[in-house]
Amino acid sequence: MITKICCIGAGYVGGPTMAVIAQKCPHIKVTVVDLNQERINAWNDNDLSKLPVYEPGLDSVVKEARGRNLFFSTEVDHAIEEAEMIFISVNTPTKTYGVGKGMAADLKYIELCARQIARVAKTDKIVVEKSTLPVRTAQAIKDILDNTGNGVQFQILSNPEFLAEGTAIEDLFAPDRVLIGGETSPEGEKAVQALVDVYANWVPKDRILTTNVWSSELSKLTANAFLAQRVSSINAMSELCEKTGADVNEVAKAIGMDSRIGPKFLKSSVGFGGSCFQKDILNMVYIAKSYGLNEVADYWEQVIIMNDHQKRRFAKNIIKTLYNTVSGKKIAFLGWAFKKDTNDTRESAAIYVADDLLSEQAHIAIFDPKVEPEQIHFDLNYLDTRSKEENAKGVSIETDPYETCKDAHAIAVLTEWDEFKTYDWQKIYDNMLKPAFVFDGRNILDGKELEKIGFKYQGIGK
Ligand code: NAD
Ligand code: UGA
Repeated sequence: MITKICCIGAGYVGGPTMAVIAQKCPHIKVTVVDLNQERINAWNDNDLSKLPVYEPGLDSVVKEARGRNLFFSTEVDHAIEEAEMIFISVNTPTKTYGVGKGMAADLKYIELCARQIARVAKTDKIVVEKSTLPVRTAQAIKDILDNTGNGVQFQILSNPEFLAEGTAIEDLFAPDRVLIGGETSPEGEKAVQALVDVYANWVPKDRILTTNVWSSELSKLTANAFLAQRVSSINAMSELCEKTGADVNEVAKAIGMDSRIGPKFLKSSVGFGGSCFQKDILNMVYIAKSYGLNEVADYWEQVIIMNDHQKRRFAKNIIKTLYNTVSGKKIAFLGWAFKKDTNDTRESAAIYVADDLLSEQAHIAIFDPKVEPEQIHFDLNYLDTRSKEENAKGVSIETDPYETCKDAHAIAVLTEWDEFKTYDWQKIYDNMLKPAFVFDGRNILDGKELEKIGFKYQGIGK
């Protein structure tokens, strides 16, 4: 039975996932390690509002388990050495250099982990891929471990994570399924069982699915591709709705009631964001191309092309509606995170919409309930479209939504935070320049009510 787990990578996946394992399995010591001292300090902060990841319910899970059987540390070697099972949960971003630049997954952090495990391990270990990886990565990890290790035995499992940010804790408490891929040898089966036993502490057995390693690795990429494809599909229809007088919400409801299609993941929006959909699809496209499967690659690439189009046309529509110029005009952004209930901004549509509007010399005032100002500056500067000074001059980051919208020509809703619906919209209207425009990139506001106040309201796909 497993009694000690180590997880390398204390990010959005490693932190919450391990916190839940520790809470549900008090008999297992769980140590989460990271190279980033600041992040580890934040995980150890007594003030739970300072945890590096904002997730509803995470604070109480950490409060219960931290110091009991959940530990956060930068002592990576020590944690590897004492654990029987090691999760690798480091980032696997899109490559920004060399072969596969802009498409393939950058596996350098994964390889560093494998080499470190090989160097440190003096006893047999089960190594679990928790990060999302290209299919067949387990082979590369095994080669490194077997060729550079100290002669101990390694079993590699694939155990991809399906949590969504903003609902990570509920997803981890009651997952639709847990997927575990392993070798079909007796040793492989024993390792799979050891991980099944960990999850079985709170997940019903019929939701724990075991497969071969390659099916498990590929299922993760496939799941994200299918989810993103639904968003791009409904977003494609949103543009057709706008031209034809149909309403995308009504279309989504009508098709979603077909039990073969289902109602979830059909919300039209300014475009999907997040650290994974784009990265994982590009990775899959790259893999397909590398096998010469060009039709497969082109089919999935279209999901990304559609999403880029949706972000871009949202910005274009703002410019066109504001009489073809936003130069010197104040545009208020409500929301910067890629979805509600998270402080994560990676690949958020807001970044790209802001970038397009800044290129048209708009001034952008931004309010997000959870995102730090430094993050917003970082996101804009990362695109490298203009100098840091120009970016800083073009945006102001606010702490009060009413101040954000004051004297604005237009408001753009970029994230579906619930609190936006409860604002005093009359007060906001009174303090704006007229005509006062609202571009609702999430279809969360009541357009009819806003029009009664006097706003010029535009949703997506209506
Ligand atoms: P993240 O960037 O939030 O966290 C990764 C952490 O790993 C960072 O804190 C980094 O400092 C650390 N790290 C990198 N190399 C290290 C090393 N050699 N030793 C120790 N620490 C190291 O990333 P994330 O969002 O948690 O994603 C991690 C993986 O999980 C990715 O492969 C991602 O595709 C996958 N995933 C993410 C989500 C999500 O919702 N964010 C969901 C499912 C799967
Ligand atoms: C997604 C998947 O849902 C998770 O299962 C997966 O584990 C994770 O990616 C991952 O691998 O990282 P996440 O990106 O956290 O989770 O959040 P989602 O709820 O999937 O939303 C992604 C983006 O799509 C957001 O920008 C969201 O606003 C957008 N979206 C989602 C829509 O525009 N419409 C929808 O109907 C649903």
